[in-house]
Amino acid sequence: MANPNETEKNTPLVWADHISKYFHVARGQVLKAVNNVNFEVRQGETVGLVGESGCGKSTTGRCLVRLYEPTRGTVWYRGKDVSKLNRAEKKEFCSNVQMIFQNPYSSLNPRMTVKEIVGEGMALHGHYSQKELDDKVEELLHLVGLGRDHMSRFPHEFSGGQRQRIGIARALSVNPEFIVCDEPISALDVSIQAQVINMLKHLQEQFSLTYLFIAHDLSVVKYISDRVIVMYLGTIVEEAEADELYSHPLHPYTQALLSAIPIADPELTRSRKRIPITGEIPSPINPKDCCQFADRCPYATERCHKEMPQIRKVGKEHAVACHLINS
Ligand SMILES: Nc1ncnc2c1ncn2[C@@H]1O[C@H](COP(=O)(O)OP(=O)(O)OP(=O)(O)O)[C@@H](O)[C@H]1O
Ligand code: SF4
Ligand SMILES: [Mg+2]
Repeated sequence: MANPNETEKNTPLVWADHISKYFHVARGQVLKAVNNVNFEVRQGETVGLVGESGCGKSTTGRCLVRLYEPTRGTVWYRGKDVSKLNRAEKKEFCSNVQMIFQNPYSSLNPRMTVKEIVGEGMALHGHYSQKELDDKVEELLHLVGLGRDHMSRFPHEFSGGQRQRIGIARALSVNPEFIVCDEPISALDVSIQAQVINMLKHLQEQFSLTYLFIAHDLSVVKYISDRVIVMYLGTIVEEAEADELYSHPLHPYTQALLSAIPIADPELTRSRKRIPITGEIPSPINPKDCCQFADRCPYATERCHKEMPQIRKVGKEHAVACHLINS
């Protein structure tokens, strides 16, 4: 019989169903930030979403939490189209789904105390007395390693790591089940990054949370993700279980990202083939209808410059978009 925890992990909680998000920019041009992206996040798992700056990770995350309306496609949450929720369902969605932002300073209101920031969502979504609210805020701060004496302070009085902890306490305050963690550690000192990752892992176990964990570095998501999705210029180029992706990366872009990760073992470093990515990431404004990676790919052929590769399954959980694979 299937392990109930495993079965739960296979149930889709969120499905980004072929979503695109376009922005109309200067001179009538269209910036395709996210272009026909299709993936699901299953209950209880952590999906890592990785790619270079500007590839559309935050825009994808924002579409999932309804901060952006996709230009095309549908976001489904527990089988419901999130653009068609009624008032009561919207309220429930807003507490079930939370986002932790990339910049912990700009996402906290500088004029509010920590108590107000962390308690705001609870005051909106629940019926608490002031005493209950204070106790709950203290409990949440305790969970993220802060204390009662921090409650009356303002965001500027904290370090970057502490501010991110406040952001995490705020997200947890409404008992969410799904959290989009948008580069929650990239603004932090390396010494603090591991602490915050471990805290997020611990909170996930404690509250059965599901995460979409956004990062631009594959090394960061390795320790927290069950599955990893690699994005390039608005599209998904590869998706696989974390172990599989790290041991058998198939897309040249994933291989290049992995080969850039420093490893401690000098033997392994010497034997590893480095795949340099040359040139800049192209503009997402009016992108060409071909492989988006073609101008930087060491294996590009004529076909790559003419035809966009479709994402294809190459294993149970492994999919890749490259003309070289399975052709
Ligand atoms: N509101 C907006 N209006 C116009 N363009 C936008 C908007 N938001 C994002 N973009 C553009 O969409 C593209 C994707 O941006 P996004 O923030 O999703 O990238 P990202 O992968 O999160 O990058 P980073 O790692 O730097 O955070 C970029 O070219 C960005 O300039
Ligand atoms: S489709 Fe062609 S250009 Fe694109 S990643 Fe594959 S080999 Fe490289
Ligand atoms: Mg971003």
